[in-house]
Amino acid sequence: MLRDTYIGLVDDSFIGKHVKLAGWIDSIRDHGGVLFIDLRDKEGKLQAVLEESENKELYDIAKHFKEESVVLVEGLVRRRPSGTENPKIKSGNVELLIERIELLNASETLPFPIDDNIDISEELRLKYRYLDLRRPKFQKAIKTRSKALKITRDFFEENGFYEIETPFLIKSTPEGARDFLVPSRLHPGKFYALPQSPQLFKQILMVSGFDRYFQIARCFRDEDLRSDRQPEFTQIDFEMSFVEESDIMEISEKLLSKLFLELLGIELNIPFKKITYKEAMERYGSDKPDTRFGLELVDLTDIFKNTNFNVFKSALEQKGIIKAIKINKILSRKEIDNLTEYVKGLGAKGLAWGKVENGEFNSPIAKFLADQEVKAMLSRLDAKDNEMIFFSADKPKNVYKILGNLRLQLGKMLNLVDESKFEFLWVVDFPMFEYNEEEGRLEAMHHPFTSPKTEDLDKIRYIIDKENKEDIINIGENIGARAYDIVLNGVEIGGGSIRIHNKDVQKLVFKILNISDEEANMKFGFLLEALKYGAPPHGGLAFGFDRLMAMMLGFDSIRDVIAFPKTQKGTCLLTGAPDIVSDKQLKELHIKIT
Ligand code: AMO
Ligand code: AMP
Repeated sequence: MLRDTYIGLVDDSFIGKHVKLAGWIDSIRDHGGVLFIDLRDKEGKLQAVLEESENKELYDIAKHFKEESVVLVEGLVRRRPSGTENPKIKSGNVELLIERIELLNASETLPFPIDDNIDISEELRLKYRYLDLRRPKFQKAIKTRSKALKITRDFFEENGFYEIETPFLIKSTPEGARDFLVPSRLHPGKFYALPQSPQLFKQILMVSGFDRYFQIARCFRDEDLRSDRQPEFTQIDFEMSFVEESDIMEISEKLLSKLFLELLGIELNIPFKKITYKEAMERYGSDKPDTRFGLELVDLTDIFKNTNFNVFKSALEQKGIIKAIKINKILSRKEIDNLTEYVKGLGAKGLAWGKVENGEFNSPIAKFLADQEVKAMLSRLDAKDNEMIFFSADKPKNVYKILGNLRLQLGKMLNLVDESKFEFLWVVDFPMFEYNEEEGRLEAMHHPFTSPKTEDLDKIRYIIDKENKEDIINIGENIGARAYDIVLNGVEIGGGSIRIHNKDVQKLVFKILNISDEEANMKFGFLLEALKYGAPPHGGLAFGFDRLMAMMLGFDSIRDVIAFPKTQKGTCLLTGAPDIVSDKQLKELHIKIT
């Protein structure tokens, strides 16, 4: 090695010793005759000193060195003069008296300083990602991520799981997103897909009898990107045989407990709370509720069933509902207008509101409401003076979307969210299907390999050949799935299910999804075939590892915990991907750009 130890590891125990170190110049300051060079490597920083009076020749050379240049330094470690210690760092009591300093590689002036507390555009950061990653917070993030992977591997190993790699070049596995395709050179006109998840392979591994599988799996989805979505991301994916929901939940909770304890020193309370999908939607307007604060949705539909207020009346006539959120503050007109604009952006027709002052309900809509309606509503909401109420009247799906988002917005505005908390929640009893208005058919809410609740199989058989839309929606959306999601602070960090292990049930589900026998055989024939030969009952879950890490480290975006993330537009600013390729490459792949 070029060095004796890491720069950041030099502490009191080195006092009086000669050491050889290598690393970066974090900062360099010339105090007229004394040069202070802060050295840095992955373990931390160390102050080095070079006095002109001790070695003028070296001093004259070194004072021209630039920050972020790479140097080799030799010298004596000594105690810092009293009063100049820095208790914040490991090497804070000592400094290196430079006897030799060699420039290994000079750095040009950087596009931005290596500092956690600077505000630079993400574009610049991602273009120079290698410099961005030198910043202490990202050094810490990547280090923690690596530790988390090790803890995860150890945990699964200790619990009898095999780590099994599944292929990247596959036939497409539908998970609801668009596939990334890879053209085949050897089979003109044919394509591989990159896996959206290892779902079908892990199920097939259960058929093979491995019993417990896990993988730190890279997944690829061609979706519209957001701060919590990347086109390629990492899952902690696992599957187990002969299990029920509670077994998957227990192992998930144990893994999370281990990660939180070993990485953050936080002891989680397990088992986590559970809430049904229905209750989550009704109380929070979301299937991934942030339960760190209240502001729950209150149903007022029955109170207004005979109302004369047109807005409410027409919503009810169209099978709508009326719900409200109450806050304990009176907002300004400007704030109310902003919130109204916000919900209109979500598709709301408006945002009726009212305030309680001196026992009176003051509101632009008050004159349309009957006295007993107002009284019943205020009583149900337990509304007191200086409180405000927001209403949404619409189809249930819209009300949930509008008030669910408004609730999050209000929670932030009113500072109700305790950022230091980690609130885990299982969302269970998801519906199996959701009606897609555009396509006029039912869709799998989780994925088509999720097992329906056994008691609902008859409903599936009943609606299979029904044409009537009402029937399909009313019955179809009431078929339960053995699916569960795990939510942390309002973010879905994982999801899974007990799977279908019976080929006839799997065929039924394909049928209800309008996948013909022919199409099912073409797309999933291998799965249907595998289910014929002794497939055990099985189930599993996948954590979004990037989301989990971002939450544990307090980052808003998963891009901050991924070494080389893509932009919101799916590009890599460092390398310039995606990019054009040569005509020769295209020709070999039998591809023409039109
Ligand atoms: P699902 O599609 O719910 O389930 O994915 C599991 C978890 O992965 C995370 N996730 C993402 N993270 C970053 N960027 C994305 N584009 C992205 N998409 C999803 C989420 C999500 O909860 N095969 C099933 C799992 C199973 O049933 O066992 C699956 O992939 O945190
Ligand atoms: P309008 O009669 O359309 O002026 O609406 C009266 C009030 O009801 C206004 O404050 C609107 O913002 C509000 N409003 C309109 N449609 C809805 C709706 N679907 N849900 C809740 N409030 C609404």
